[in-house]
Amino acid sequence: MPDLAVVTGAFSYTGGFVAEKLLRDGFPVRTLSRRDDPSSPLHGRVDVAELQFRDEAALVESLRGAGTLYNTYWIRYESGGCTFDRAVENTRTLFRAAQAAEVERVVHLSVSNPSEDSPLPYFRGKAACERALSESRLEHAIVRPTLIFGRRDLLVNNIAWILRRFPVFLVPGSGRYRLQPVSAEDVAEIAVTARGVVDAAGPDVFTFDELVRAIGDAIGRPRRLVHLPAGAALAVGAVVARVRRDVVLTRDEVAGLEAELLVSHEPPRGDDGFREWLEASGEALGRRYVSELARNFRPYAPL
Ligand SMILES: NC(=O)c1ccc[n+]([C@@H]2O[C@H](COP(=O)([O-])OP(=O)(O)OC[C@H]3O[C@@H](n4cnc5c(N)ncnc54)[C@H](OP(=O)(O)O)[C@@H]3O)[C@@H](O)[C@H]2O)c1
Repeated sequence: MPDLAVVTGAFSYTGGFVAEKLLRDGFPVRTLSRRDDPSSPLHGRVDVAELQFRDEAALVESLRGAGTLYNTYWIRYESGGCTFDRAVENTRTLFRAAQAAEVERVVHLSVSNPSEDSPLPYFRGKAACERALSESRLEHAIVRPTLIFGRRDLLVNNIAWILRRFPVFLVPGSGRYRLQPVSAEDVAEIAVTARGVVDAAGPDVFTFDELVRAIGDAIGRPRRLVHLPAGAALAVGAVVARVRRDVVLTRDEVAGLEAELLVSHEPPRGDDGFREWLEASGEALGRRYVSELARNFRPYAPL
């Protein structure tokens, strides 16, 4: 019997793809999550324990018996009491618990181009988590994805949602900055085979303008792109966000895009083409707005 694999966030986004891949490979899977999700295709196929950081002894117990921990835990932006500093502390707690539970290996999902000197707290925090893992005694691998696309994706879906509803698309800044999307299936494949520190990036690099145009074409809404200074585009985005009770894109995310932090400097490990995925998923993309705040920042009752 293969060792138990523990995956954070199997009912959320990337963790779900990792859990699916592990189940296909014959591993028993436990997920750590704030919730059980009866609507998930993984419901009933994975064991569920609570993802929490206030009770370290309970966290150790939830990791007991695991061969590998796949850690996807992170926050996309700060909201309420949820800060990047807190997320780094929580990640340290998780690694400490994994060590205490004698987990054999940790595969940690980071991000492309993390840096302890970054002015962007997302990328700085990710570098701090990588350091915490490399300074621990845990055997580990680190996977650094660029922009992940796939079922339950948020950003691409919400770009499509805007394209479906508005006659023009407001692009922050020049739109010439590049990004290199990778499929969630490829990220899962890379995670389960990872050794050392590896980027997870797809085969194609797009400018932001090209990415938006590709989405528009795939959903049959080829809109005119209007370039605005980032601050102005974000201000308009904030109005949409208020209506949808979400944050569409943060100032830091735009800065990360403009700095091309979602481009890898390694040969791509992912095979799946973004355009091919768009062609296959265009019909469903952007029909509904998907709120990060509703998905990830609502209070969940303890499991
Ligand atoms: N999505 C991308 O395009 C992308 C790009 C580069 C790197 N990454 C990295 O890949 C990993 C997975 O990303 P993802 O987008 O797939 O994330 P996700 O599924 O939305 O969330 C991953 C995990 O973090 C937990 N989480 C998220 N927000 C939280 C909050 N506010 N409070 C407490 N827990 C929270 C989730 O908990 P529940 O299980 O309870 O929902 C889940 O276990 C992350 O480390 C991310 O930084 C993602």
